[in-house]
Formats: sequence, C-alpha cells, structure tokens
Amino acid sequence: MKKIFLLFTLLVSMCATCKAATAAEVRTLVLYYTYSGVTETLAQNIADECGGTLLQVVDHGNYPRPESQQTYNYANNERSQIDAGNWPEIQTSVDNFDNWDAIIICTPLWNGKMANPMLTFLHNHADKLDQKQVALAVTSWSSGITNVVTDAHNMLPNNTFVGNPLHIDYNHRSQIHDMAANWLTTLDFEAPVANKMRVIVGDKTFSATLADNNTAEEFKEVLPLTITMTELNGNEKYYFFNSNFSANASVPDSIRAGDIMLYQRNCLVLFYKTFKTSYSYTRIGAIDDPTGLADALGTESAIVTFELVPGDFIKGDVNGDNEVSIGDVSALIDYLLGLEASSINAAAADVNTDKEVTIADVSALIDILLGIN
Ligand SMILES: Cc1cc2nc3c(=O)[nH]c(=O)nc-3n(C[C@H](O)[C@H](O)[C@H](O)COP(=O)(O)O)c2cc1C
Repeated sequence: MKKIFLLFTLLVSMCATCKAATAAEVRTLVLYYTYSGVTETLAQNIADECGGTLLQVVDHGNYPRPESQQTYNYANNERSQIDAGNWPEIQTSVDNFDNWDAIIICTPLWNGKMANPMLTFLHNHADKLDQKQVALAVTSWSSGITNVVTDAHNMLPNNTFVGNPLHIDYNHRSQIHDMAANWLTTLDFEAPVANKMRVIVGDKTFSATLADNNTAEEFKEVLPLTITMTELNGNEKYYFFNSNFSANASVPDSIRAGDIMLYQRNCLVLFYKTFKTSYSYTRIGAIDDPTGLADALGTESAIVTFELVPGDFIKGDVNGDNEVSIGDVSALIDYLLGLEASSINAAAADVNTDKEVTIADVSALIDILLGIN
C-alpha cells in the first residue's frame, strides 16, 4: 500500500495544484438537442470526458424527415414564428438546476442560427438557469456559428459564458472526440464555495451557512461531526474540542438564536436564544432559520450533528479546502489506510460516483489532476 502511495504521490506531483475548476471538478450538466445524431455524439463525448450528466432536449416530433429542403423550410418558418413570440412545443422541462454548477449547451445550427428546440428550451428555462456558468458547443454542416452564439447570449443574458464556443463542422466530425477533450481543458469554471451545512438535532434538520473565515474553514475539516453538547444558562449548548482552532474573536452586537460560535480557541457554542453578551466569540456560522431550534435542543445536553451539504462539494475535494490538489490524494489514501477516518468528505471522495469510497476513487482523482478525466 505504501508503494502505491509513493507511486501516486510521484505521479500527482507532476501536476501542479489545480486551482481552476475544470468541467470534471464542478457538477456539470451536458444539455443537448439533436435532429440527426451528430450533436448527440458530441454531447456524449463531452459527458464521458468530464463525468457530466447528459440531458436531451426532445422536440415536438413534427420536423419533416429525412432531412431535406422541406425540413429547412419548416424550421425557417418556425423560427419566424419564434421571432414573433410564438414558441413551439418541446417535450423536455426541468424543475430546477440545483444539482449542477455548470451547463454545457450542445446544439446544432439551423438556418444559420440556434436550432429551434434548444432555443426554446433556453427561453423556457432562462430564469432557472440564471447565474449558472455556461459553455457552448455547436455543430453545423459548414456555416459559421456567430448567430448561434448571439442566440445563446440573448436567451441567457445573466449568465457567465465560460471559454470560447466549440464548433464542429462536417470536416471535423471525425475528430469530435479529440476536439471535445481538448476544448474541455480550455474551460475554466469557477469552483463553488462549500458553505452550506446541516445541523441535525433529533429528527429536526436545520440548514446553516458557514462564515467566510479561517475558523469556519478549519471547522469544515472536522465535519461530519456528531457530539453531545452541554446545556448552559438556558440559551446555549457547548462542546470542548481537544485541539484548538484559529480564532479572531470579538464581542458581537448581539447573540442571535442559531449562531454557531467558537468561544476561546476550542469551545463550540450553539446558541438557541437571542440576547446581548459581553463575551467575545469567533463566528463559525449560523442556522438560517432557527425556528424550532430551542425546542429541538431541549433543556438538557443534546446530541447534535454538523455536516456539510454534499451537493456543495467539489468532486475530488476530499479534504474540503475548496480546491482539488495533491493534498486530496493524500487525504484519501490516509482515509483508505485507516489513518484519518473522520476528516474526509465522503461525498467529495466518491470521485467515480459509484457510492463507495475505494482505491478506484484515488485513480479517478489522479485522472482529474492529470486532466485525463
Ligand atoms: C433544419 C436544419 C437546418 C440546417 N441549417 C444549416 C445551415 O444553415 N448551415 C449549416 O452549415 N448546416 C445546417 N444544418 C445542418 C446541421 O447543422 C448539421 O448537420 C448538424 O451537425 C446536425 O446536428 P444533429 O445531427 O445533432 O442534428 C441544418 C440542419 C437542419 C436539420
């Protein structure tokens, strides 16, 4: 096992710390429309390469087949209707895009513009896609894609478009695999910040937001955590850690119910009442809506679990430091060797998403670091 560790360390040290989040490191949706299969092939290659989720936009089924002048005329007339505000039916709708950080849109070009079904999907979902990072990949026979890019920007005016659009024309169809793989390496997505936590007391779960400071970062490293917290003064529960955290304490204007604070360097405090204090604390975070917290915690000691929300993790960020680096390989191997069972994020460590954390995840993690996946 030690040999494997050394081998992996050597391999990964060839790759500098990867701060930029690639499509493989964020949760990517590969959204595509296809009429005759070319864009589907492209989307499949992209999804395979980055481990993204594939989603097909399905049209109304009325486009004339096989592809002919009749198809072009039908699509052209429909586009005139769209431009007049009459949107066609499509069969695909999505409730929300919460599970994804980035959307790669793969669409054919129709009559010089974005294919009507993809245009319609973006129109129908623009609000829900608001703020998502977007990348665009277009297939055409020979036409240039400028107007498709314009369509995408018009449909998604509030989105950040990442990288240059990928264009696969007829002459490059045989190179789809390599072009898709190379293109993905040029996309530089912003990694999501993992700042959401769940606080579980008995059968009640409260959503909490972590503070943006070193103490909260260090606190993340001890999660998930289940502890018995001691009652104090009818307004707080506390727990002493064996080791110290960084602290930057100050006297808060007021303690609010739901505040999660560090007292001194090693005492975690969960407040369930709002009151004025003269003591100094370092903020770790706060429960978003503390309604019912006092009842859930009761008047005695309480067992409380703190855990990060798995969806907020960057795949491969095993140690929860918001980047994927050699440190994550080391943390994962330590975990597999049984050296540091409590300090990894299991959701982030399940890199190959087979619902288990095994040696196969080390291999998948190294692929990410080497840009292979
Ligand atoms: C309705 C329609 C209109 C098209 N218009 C154009 C065009 O203006 N210029 C072009 O180069 N290709 C055009 N094409 C060809 C497609 O863009 C191209 O074959 C694309 O790769 C097909 O992707 P798909 O197989 O995923 O549907 C058109 C295809 C269709 C069905």
